[in-house]
Amino acid sequence: MNPEDKKRIAAEAAVDHVKSDSIIGVGTGSTVNHFIDLLAAKMANQVKAAVSSSEASSERLRGHGIKVVDLNEVGKLDLYVDGADESNAQLHLIKGGGGALTREKIVAAASREFVCIADDSKLVDVLGAFPLPVEVIPMARELVADSLRALGGEPRLRNGTITDNGNQILDLHGLAISDAPDLETRINQITGVVSNGLFAHRPADVLILGTDQGVVTHTAGSD
Ligand code: 5RP
Repeated sequence: MNPEDKKRIAAEAAVDHVKSDSIIGVGTGSTVNHFIDLLAAKMANQVKAAVSSSEASSERLRGHGIKVVDLNEVGKLDLYVDGADESNAQLHLIKGGGGALTREKIVAAASREFVCIADDSKLVDVLGAFPLPVEVIPMARELVADSLRALGGEPRLRNGTITDNGNQILDLHGLAISDAPDLETRINQITGVVSNGLFAHRPADVLILGTDQGVVTHTAGSD
């Protein structure tokens, strides 16, 4: 099965987690795009609204006639569905390949259940082969880069990218992350960092992977 089909079957399985008449959180990326399209095809009239993690997903949701609402208007969400760049067996994630990490973290924090969808290439033993995105306030970029080097990584500016929040992204290369919660905390403590792409303090609750054998579902500690 090709990677796009694997993403699509994972997204299809996530639609089963959506309850009718609910307001759901929706992430960002190519896997989530499948989810939005399938949600619209199967449940558009049953979903009350969505809280979106990016302008791109908001546009796609609205294009399907799904209402997008502000998180501040609705408070806690039952469900958040999003993709990932990497996951380990604890369902600690690296996210932010699409640059939406900060809003994704906010929606994940507001949600009771986080269902992560991906093709099986995203499941890894050790996080860090995918460069870790760090969103920074532009004037602090070089200051933050120095601190990230001190943590052992090699920060590279993602050229031409401005986030939906008007900030820049440093991608941190060369890490093998053995303690994801600790590194998430350390990076968050650097002045000028808005957020980083480690989702370890708020990991996924369920990971749905598309594989050659069909869909495989993991929960933290299930392996
Ligand atoms: C965007 C993200 C995405 O979830 C992540 O990059 C995975 O994307 P894709 O589904 O296209 O592989 O974190 O900021």
